[in-house]
Amino acid sequence: MIQTPYYLIDKTKLLRNMEKIAYLRETSGAKALLALKCFATWSVFDLMRDYMDGTTSSSLNEARLGHERFGKETHAYSVAYADYEIDEVVSHADKIIFNTIGQLRRFEKPSAGIIRGLRLNPGVSSSSFDLADPARPFSRLGEWDLAKVEPVMDLISGFMIHNNCENKDFDLFDRMLGDIEEKFGPLLKKADWVSLGGGIHFTGEDYPIDRFAERLKRFSGEYDVQVYLEPGEASITKSTTLEVTVLDKLYNGKDLVVVDSSIEAHMLDLLIYRESAKVSPNQGPHRYMVCGKSCLAGDIFGEFDFPDELKVGDRISIQDAAGYTMVKKNWFNGVKMPAIAIRELDGSIRTVREFSYTDYEQSLS
Ligand SMILES: Cc1ncc(COP(=O)(O)O)c(C=O)c1O
Repeated sequence: MIQTPYYLIDKTKLLRNMEKIAYLRETSGAKALLALKCFATWSVFDLMRDYMDGTTSSSLNEARLGHERFGKETHAYSVAYADYEIDEVVSHADKIIFNTIGQLRRFEKPSAGIIRGLRLNPGVSSSSFDLADPARPFSRLGEWDLAKVEPVMDLISGFMIHNNCENKDFDLFDRMLGDIEEKFGPLLKKADWVSLGGGIHFTGEDYPIDRFAERLKRFSGEYDVQVYLEPGEASITKSTTLEVTVLDKLYNGKDLVVVDSSIEAHMLDLLIYRESAKVSPNQGPHRYMVCGKSCLAGDIFGEFDFPDELKVGDRISIQDAAGYTMVKKNWFNGVKMPAIAIRELDGSIRTVREFSYTDYEQSLS
C-alpha cells in the first residue's frame, strides 16, 4: 500500500476525457491545447499527447514545460512578460499572445519571428465569483477597445478570448459567443485564428457536445479562422483522487476526523472558492466532518456520510483532485506533500513522485 497522502491519477478515467476531446476536435475542426495552469503533471503527457494539439501557458516556466514535456504546439501567454524572459519565452513558443497592446509594442522586435496574438476582453463572463471573473470591473485581462486594436492588426494574426469559467451551460456559451461576435466581429474577420480559452465543461456527462461542435465549426467558417480551445479542468475532470488517512477522531458537537492532508496545502482552490470537497458515494448513517491537519481553523474538506464508523487508520478518497491542486500545492505548516501516483490502463499503480524533507528545506533558504 502506498503511504498517504498521495494524488492518484487514473489513466482510464483520464482517457474518457481525452476521447471526448478528440471527438470534439474531429467534429468541430477546433484544436485543443492543455492549459498547464490547471494541470501540469507531465508523467501522463504521453497519454494526453495523442488526443490534444499541444499546451498553453501563463508564464515562461509553463511555456518551457509545455515545449519540453508535451511538445506539439506551444502557445505562450502571460499577463505580463519581463524584459529578461522574453527571448526564452519566444524560443519555446509557436505563438505568443500578449495581454495588452503595451506589451505587444514593447516586445515587437524580440517576438517578430513567431506568430503573435492579442488577448481581447469582451466584458462578459460566466463567472459568478469576482475573484475568477475576467470581465470584472477594471479587469487587467485583455484589451476591450476595438478602436485601439485596429491599428496594431498588422502586428498580429489572431486573438485569445477567455471569458468562460466553469461553464456547464451550452446556451450561455452560445449567447456569450454571440456577444463576442457582435462586439469584435470586424476584428475577427481580419484574424487567422481565435482561441476561445478554457472554462467550458464540455467533457461533462450531459454536455451537448455535438451542438458545441456545430457552433464552433460555424464560428470558424463565418470568420474563416482556426479555432483553439484551452481546456484545463475539462481535460482532467474526475480523473484523480487525493488519498488520505484518518489520524484522529474527536467529538465537538459533531463527529470530526483529522486526516494526514490539508485543504489549504493540497486542494487550495476549494478553500479560495469556499467549496466542499467531494467524497463518493457519500452515503450511509455515519456523518463526519473531515478536517485537515494544518493549524488553520477552517482547514475542512467537508461533511460526508460514510457506511461505517471511521477509525484511525481508515483511508478516504477525496474525489476530483486533479485541477488546480498539484500545480498549487504548498508547504504550509510543513505538512507532508502528497506523492503522485498513476493507475495505469492495466490497473497497476506506480508512484511517480515522492516529496521529502529535502524538498521542503530546498523550497526555502
Ligand atoms: C487564458 C486561460 N486559458 C485557459 C484556462 C483554463 O481554464 P479551465 O481550467 O477552467 O478550463 C484559464 C483559466 O483560468 C485561462 O485563464
